[in-house]
Amino acid sequence: MSLNVIQSISDMQSISNALRKEGKSIACVPTMGYLHEGHASLIREAVKHHDIVITTIFVNPLQFGPKEDFERYPRDPERDIAIISAAGGKYVFIPSIDEMYPPEFQTTISIGNISKSFEGLYRPGHFEGVATVVAKLFAATKPDAAYFGQKDYQQTLVIKQMVKDLNMGIDIQVIPTLRESTGLAMSSRNVYLSPEEKKSALVLQSALQTGLSLIRDGNRRRISIEESMKDILAGCPEFEIQYCNAALGDTLEMPDEFSETDQIVLLIAGFMGKTRLIDNMTWSSK
Ligand code: PAF
Repeated sequence: MSLNVIQSISDMQSISNALRKEGKSIACVPTMGYLHEGHASLIREAVKHHDIVITTIFVNPLQFGPKEDFERYPRDPERDIAIISAAGGKYVFIPSIDEMYPPEFQTTISIGNISKSFEGLYRPGHFEGVATVVAKLFAATKPDAAYFGQKDYQQTLVIKQMVKDLNMGIDIQVIPTLRESTGLAMSSRNVYLSPEEKKSALVLQSALQTGLSLIRDGNRRRISIEESMKDILAGCPEFEIQYCNAALGDTLEMPDEFSETDQIVLLIAGFMGKTRLIDNMTWSSK
């Protein structure tokens, strides 16, 4: 079967309703397009566990701030379609901006504490935009499960919270970040980086690894873990840090001292030249 390309919400809903009536399980893989191997890994994982995988492609204006890169965000739907097909996806939902946000549109989903720190501080309104679009994509595709990358760690917590609070009954799966052979986390925005910036960007990975090895060696003092990561980042003056923290993996709270059994996430964000980079690594004793 070739790839089904669907553009209207009502067509998407009719198709999903019909598939559900046939007893098929549906997974949704929400994306903003310009797909890379990380997205392909989400699609492949979804294909393993579900009868139908619907990849969505929509560059969502609501989640970009006024000074952010909405206009220049890379787009290549033809290449995306080839990547989706190669990964085993059979459906792609590509709505237009007017289809998603007609002039009379007036609803925003706002999520509490979990969305206020880290990305929420540096990108005001970002998670309202993400939650609103993801709720709409879920309403269009009617999935049993949805797949997201760990690279946007806080986003996965925000979406899990929304799904729980609004009783959406969708299983949220988080798939580990895919990295280039150098260790750089895959991101559609890596295309903005010059070869030198790409090399410098490896400092994020070194800082995270340093934090992880301290935790592995038994250090649970948050400030000490953060200072060591910041020292590594300071070795790369081209990287302008926004945040570099250790937090609890489920709530993002930042106790002075972690317990032995805490799941910990190390989170870094900042600018390499004009490009904003984020990365994270998690640690758990289990
Ligand atoms: O992670 C992304 O690409 C976007 O934030 C998402 C989840 C597709 C919503 O626009």
